[in-house]
Amino acid sequence: MSELIRVESLRKTYQVRNAWGRRTGTLDAVDGVDLTISAGETLGIVGESGSGKSTLGRLILQMEQPTAGSVIYDGRDLSTMSRRERYARRGEMQVIHQDPYSALNPHRSALASVMEPLTARGTPADAAATIAREALTAVGIDQDAVHKRPRAFSGGQRQRIAIARAIAPRPAFIVCDEPVSALDMSIQAQVTDLLQKLQREFDLTYLFISHDLSVVREIATRTAVMRRGRIVELAPTAELFDAPQHPYTRRLLEAVLVPDPESARERLAHVASRPAAEASASDGPLVEVAPGHFVASSPL
Ligand SMILES: Nc1ncnc2c1ncn2[C@@H]1O[C@H](COP(=O)(O)OP(=O)(O)OP(=O)(O)O)[C@@H](O)[C@H]1O
Ligand SMILES: [Mg+2]
Repeated sequence: MSELIRVESLRKTYQVRNAWGRRTGTLDAVDGVDLTISAGETLGIVGESGSGKSTLGRLILQMEQPTAGSVIYDGRDLSTMSRRERYARRGEMQVIHQDPYSALNPHRSALASVMEPLTARGTPADAAATIAREALTAVGIDQDAVHKRPRAFSGGQRQRIAIARAIAPRPAFIVCDEPVSALDMSIQAQVTDLLQKLQREFDLTYLFISHDLSVVREIATRTAVMRRGRIVELAPTAELFDAPQHPYTRRLLEAVLVPDPESARERLAHVASRPAAEASASDGPLVEVAPGHFVASSPL
């Protein structure tokens, strides 16, 4: 598979402020990440809350400027792209969030919401309406419902509309940031199935961020584990789950390998809240331990 995205030494440092707005320090939300994403694959990103998954996604999408490092998309360094070129290629990368409300205007119909990113880029209204209707059909929204507002739809349907909005501009790459986490368990599988169907139909490449290891195990080609802004392990998904190498990956997997989902959630929360037993030392650089299987070397 050919390389679509390359991330090199990517870093994002935030100022940390106290309740009075005074700077009290800095936080490396993304702390030197290197990775590649192949065209057509789904790269899963897992890791506890605050490990930097969403920040990594936003940096790749250029929604935020990195403090250091670069994102190479289709052979072009995005930070050095001219404004005109960036504008022309704006539809190529999209995002699907956990909460469809963040993508949908409550006062607009489903059709208008899906048309908006197209008309904003200069697509004439009638052509945009045609494309938007096709996208809504592709995600399973009936034509006679397209004039309804988000409130009239169920949570799962709203997420389908947000997905239609993301695919309408014909992107090559989509960051799916916890796309099913807010949905009922019974709906989650339908929406992940839909994402997989759309991937095949439209040749999409996904960065798939999730807390839910079972979802990632099902749909990711490769999976990366993040901790404190760094990737501690990256491997083909089956290998990561069957032969995890890094102690943190093992802990994460152990926490969910219990039959009762309720207690699995509790145990995950426990992993997340436990101060890292390996002290505050950072993980070292990634070492390839088997073909395509990378593990952070011992703490520096
Ligand atoms: N705009 C910001 N300003 C300051 N700190 C931020 C900002 N955005 C994120 N952070 C911090 O950066 C760290 C990484 O956040 P991020 O949202 O990327 O984590 P995450 O892995 O997506 O977590 P979650 O699983 O809860 O979504 C966190 O400590 C967060 O508080
Ligand atoms: Mg997040």
